[in-house]
Amino acid sequence: MIGSHRVEGYAIVSADGMIADGNGMMPDTIRNDADQRFLQTELDRAAVIVHGRHSHEGGPRAARRKRFVLTHQIASVAPDPSHPQALLWNPAGATIEEAIAALGVGDGPLAIIGGTDVFGLFLPLYDAFHLTRAAHARIPGGRPLFPQVGPRATPETVLAQHGLSPGPRRDIDAAAGITLTTWQRQSG
Ligand SMILES: NC(=O)c1ccc[n+]([C@@H]2O[C@H](COP(=O)([O-])OP(=O)(O)OC[C@H]3O[C@@H](n4cnc5c(N)ncnc54)[C@H](OP(=O)(O)O)[C@@H]3O)[C@@H](O)[C@H]2O)c1
Repeated sequence: MIGSHRVEGYAIVSADGMIADGNGMMPDTIRNDADQRFLQTELDRAAVIVHGRHSHEGGPRAARRKRFVLTHQIASVAPDPSHPQALLWNPAGATIEEAIAALGVGDGPLAIIGGTDVFGLFLPLYDAFHLTRAAHARIPGGRPLFPQVGPRATPETVLAQHGLSPGPRRDIDAAAGITLTTWQRQSG
């Protein structure tokens, strides 16, 4: 939790734990309509979305959502001149609480949507992580879900190492091999 806000992560990954190819592009093999419907509905209930400069979620309702866009190009926080609902944020110069106050965030969860370094930054803080897997996709040389993911660590082992436990795996598009598992932090 950050104050009264739950912290929830959202990602779709290939069988080898990647969120994008080596050029930072998301291949069609990890794009899925059922996953997008789930993500877009979840983002509508978030108080604020948090992502790096290359990970805007898109979609018709995106402009209405409050968001923090992480960048090193400013010292702490600054308005985003092209998006009135967005705040540019450099975590090295302002805390998340300061960013929340500067944007005027209401009640509801913080939704963390990537990329790799942003997903990694919030690992100690997730109350839940919604991990979608595309079983038929592989992205050799791609960008991992978390910086730690590689030959010796899967997304699941990293989540477990940070105190989260898996709920039931749901087939959200069985024909395409797409499953969704929500990992939750165990309280107490
Ligand atoms: N499969 C999925 O679920 C998923 C999820 C998210 C993204 N993606 C895909 O992954 C690709 C983008 O990956 P990416 O790693 O380039 O993503 P990104 O995190 O969106 O963008 C990286 C940029 O964000 C800023 N940033 C990140 N961490 C920061 C920190 N700790 N402090 C300050 N600024 C920080 C930096 O911007 P500056 O250069 O301005 O300093 C950095 O260059 C896209 O194709 C996207 O669609 C996929």
